[in-house]
Amino acid sequence: MAATARVEPVRWWHDGVGYEIYVRSFADADGDGIGDLPGLTERLEHLAWLGVSAIWLTPIGPSPLFDHGYDVAGYTEVAPEYGDLEDFDALVTRAHELDVKVLCDLVPNHTSAEHPWFVSARSSRDDAFREYYVWRDPAPDGGPPNNWPSHFGGPAWSFDEHTQQYWLHQFASEQPDLNWHHPAVVEEFDRILKFWFERGIDGFRIDVAHSLVTHEDLPDLPEAPSEAEMGVRSQEFERFEHIYDRHQPEVLDVYRRWRAIAEPYDAVLLGEVYELEPELMAPYLDAQDGLHLAFWFPPTHVEWDADELRDALISGMELRAGTLAWVASSHDRSRAVTRFGGGAEGRARALALSTLLFGLPGTPFLYMGEELGLEDAVIPREEAQDPVAVRGGEYERNRDVVRTPMPWSPEPGLGFTSADRAWIRFGDRSEEDTVAAQRDTPDSILHRYRRLVDLRRSLPDLHAAPLEWLTASGPLIAYRRGGVIVAANCGDEPDALDLPDGAWEATFVSADEDASGPLGKRVPLIPSRAVILTRA
Ligand code: NOJ
Repeated sequence: MAATARVEPVRWWHDGVGYEIYVRSFADADGDGIGDLPGLTERLEHLAWLGVSAIWLTPIGPSPLFDHGYDVAGYTEVAPEYGDLEDFDALVTRAHELDVKVLCDLVPNHTSAEHPWFVSARSSRDDAFREYYVWRDPAPDGGPPNNWPSHFGGPAWSFDEHTQQYWLHQFASEQPDLNWHHPAVVEEFDRILKFWFERGIDGFRIDVAHSLVTHEDLPDLPEAPSEAEMGVRSQEFERFEHIYDRHQPEVLDVYRRWRAIAEPYDAVLLGEVYELEPELMAPYLDAQDGLHLAFWFPPTHVEWDADELRDALISGMELRAGTLAWVASSHDRSRAVTRFGGGAEGRARALALSTLLFGLPGTPFLYMGEELGLEDAVIPREEAQDPVAVRGGEYERNRDVVRTPMPWSPEPGLGFTSADRAWIRFGDRSEEDTVAAQRDTPDSILHRYRRLVDLRRSLPDLHAAPLEWLTASGPLIAYRRGGVIVAANCGDEPDALDLPDGAWEATFVSADEDASGPLGKRVPLIPSRAVILTRA
């Protein structure tokens, strides 16, 4: 199969591994059961030891928590439960001392209904902030202005009794959509970007990057011909073709503008463009004048099936090489270990998928706890907090299960907190799940991830060499990048990969170390095992 173009030019995010931190559940320094910035700073050493080169913090701004921080009530502040700006500065300073870059989460699609802009906008139709949001008169029957559904169930419109108009919200009603056709909104965000860049951050993860700009006329959405499975969506959401609420071309102007702001700081713009089709993703990445990177979510949607997995990777590689951030898990999706069957088998499969992702052009990201092989926690229905479960009634998609505290050590508060209870269940972690136990066990999942992270950083061919697929079908997925081969057995039977000419040796074996050492013409691969080979 043909090789892809070389990844050029290589920037700092191309040679390392990113790490997503769900701040509320990472480390609690003040003993209130909620993760905070000082706690995170104290634990940065773990991340430096693991070798990650950048961390992405989920939103830290003040929020009434209708969507756990993705409803921001202040863009240049820190929520008191997480600390203050001084704590933030201390975090950035320490991270940089440890050679770890810091990415913040920017939520520009919507604010919280408690944001002062919205509070003011609601006060009257003539308010100076009214146009910051999307308001429309009721339809002739008094109902919502169009048929748009919200991601969390129900219509994307709520009625304001006081001013007798509807406001648009693609997520919960407490998350009113900003009006990106209004120049003042654009200028506000210029200032917000600069505020954080001046504080020393190294980039942003941009929430809902595909939907900031909606069609100005707000036409009805056509019904979709078939249901497509598309991430954090209600069933209602999937009934439509989202041609007016997603991917409007004007959104690219926003990213061009932000690119010009980000470049002098050598900062990265990483979009959460929730799109599984390469041709719809391409406009965000092709010209490289806007977003530097976008997350590629298909690997978080697949079963353990070689064809599905291969497709998830090959379809991503149709995009400009080096512009994707590869993920197997996140704070929005069931953890890969659980999706792949759980237990030792699930862990082996998740590690094999990570091995495949870590060799691709672009930037792999780990979600906190992935390096420990954690499974989803069990959260009883009556304790659900996530709006997907509470509002949308879709308990089976409850994202709380991947948001429980990081297990640092085996004591009752898991080394996460000194409190008896955390803001969410601890999640029944065993001693073997903890960082402390795994750091002391040389062949633990944690040590294997650490080795993978190290190889990603230290093998230059994984940063810039073109990629050539070595298998086109069957249970083995394998590719070559210069003097490196990455391969995994995603089937049920032992198999072996024919090697290209020359001498190769196993530099990384995800399971059963006895397979390491110089190889002949083939490399044996038991099911769920992955390898990284280099020139002997
Ligand atoms: C994507 C975030 O990852 C998710 O957690 C959130 O619910 C939505 N965007 C809305 O902001």
